[in-house]
Amino acid sequence: MLKRLFSKQDISKTVKSLAKMIEKDFKDEEIVFVCLLKGSFMFTSDLVRCIKNTSRIDFMRVSSYGDAMRTKGKVNVLKDLEESVEGKNVIIVEDIIDSGFTLTHIKEMLKKRKPKTLKICALIDKRARREVVIEGDYVGFTIDDGFVVGYGIDYAEQYRNCPEICVVVENDE
Ligand code: IMP
Ligand code: MG
Repeated sequence: MLKRLFSKQDISKTVKSLAKMIEKDFKDEEIVFVCLLKGSFMFTSDLVRCIKNTSRIDFMRVSSYGDAMRTKGKVNVLKDLEESVEGKNVIIVEDIIDSGFTLTHIKEMLKKRKPKTLKICALIDKRARREVVIEGDYVGFTIDDGFVVGYGIDYAEQYRNCPEICVVVENDE
């Protein structure tokens, strides 16, 4: 069963406030948004539309979960960026920080490519199961635990098209 956690209005308000913070920090500089597929496709598309800076958008896909609900701690790059990020202001756009393995790995990888700045913008920071120390620079929602879906985020490839963010609950909860 799905229980609504964040409504369309909550999401829209949060995305706008993240955009405002990013615009304030980057003034009139160009930004390269790195959208981590697939989970952050919807978030990225809304976020970039709220930001007036000159922007480039690139995509990366890594595998961490498969179809299970638990992280494996192993990160494989399935699709890399198409453009160089050397000397660029890079913002990694992620749906959820959970154990932290995925973003730690991607951050290390991109750091080696010598960007001018490298930041993380995460829609949801899930705190309870963090295994490595990593913080988002721009964080939309903070939750403790629970498996969430919707707004691009899936459970076994389902529910990405749900316009709200929901938590998966057992039937008798
Ligand atoms: P981490 O490496 O454990 O931080 O995993 C982060 C990735 O796991 C995210 O990019 C999501 O794709 C996935 N993930 C973590 N928690 C959830 C969840 O509650 N629902 C759906 N995907 C999740
Ligand atoms: Mg993901």
